[in-house]
Amino acid sequence: MITIIGSGKVGGDAALFSALKRLDDQILLLDIMEGLPQGEAMDINHMLSEQGIDVEVKGSNNFEDMKGSNIVVVVAGSGRKPGMTRMDLLKINANVVKSVVDNIKKYANDSMIIPVTNPLDPMAYVTYKASGFERNRVFGMGGMLDLSRFRQFIHEATGHSRDSIRALVIGEHGENMLPLPRFSSVSGIPLPSILPKEKLDELVQNTKQVAAKVIELKGATVHAPGNAISAIVEAVVRDRKQVIPVATYLDGEYGHSDVTIGVPAVIGKNGVEKIIELDLNAEEKAVFDTAVKSVKDAVSGIEI
Ligand code: 2OP
Repeated sequence: MITIIGSGKVGGDAALFSALKRLDDQILLLDIMEGLPQGEAMDINHMLSEQGIDVEVKGSNNFEDMKGSNIVVVVAGSGRKPGMTRMDLLKINANVVKSVVDNIKKYANDSMIIPVTNPLDPMAYVTYKASGFERNRVFGMGGMLDLSRFRQFIHEATGHSRDSIRALVIGEHGENMLPLPRFSSVSGIPLPSILPKEKLDELVQNTKQVAAKVIELKGATVHAPGNAISAIVEAVVRDRKQVIPVATYLDGEYGHSDVTIGVPAVIGKNGVEKIIELDLNAEEKAVFDTAVKSVKDAVSGIEI
């Protein structure tokens, strides 16, 4: 069973995409708000019924119902409002995440946890520490969403099929995000040999800022994060060994320890099966190190 804790728009979309991809026979939507997960589940089941897809989506306010889950996605918490940075949510959401993790330990102690709540990297750290799970079982969804935006900008700039575009974004899912043109390509052709430096700088800036733009325009980001969650769940469920940037705990990798930050990792049935260390140049490393400092500063004020 896949459990999604937090049944707002992103949680609902994650359930929808996961059901359409038939990632499990049972998907549970949990929320403390009465009626919301039940209504969301009904709506999705009606759609699945027309499509003839035998995945059962259930909505509940009872954490006990997540017993037997092998994957738990945590979307619970306040979302980013217009004008807010992801870090503005830190204090509010740390308490929500800690109490959710208590419930996961109680009812799904063998599961893998995919934190999504913002600010993502600090919340992934709180989840890792509060759960006491091995580090391969806790990996936050941030980079997958960021790279889907970077891919879109590369698509717009080159006109090439989205299918041929590979993009990588690591670092903080936040102000110190690190889109990596050197590790992005169109059908294997490195991006820096296709687009001039000024254009690449523009794509990097756009990738960092576009979530705020979407929030300003429609109040929230929904489909891209919902889809990115389902893509990570799919990599686990189908044991794809896919290389995906996830917020995972570093223990010496990239020269850092005791921090949770976005790095490329092999994702398969055991969660994070391997962290891939890229040979970052000085400029990239400077941004990555700033990202690490930002996350460390953020979590230093949280009691776990
Ligand atoms: C996003 O990037 C707000 O972190 C959320 O869509």
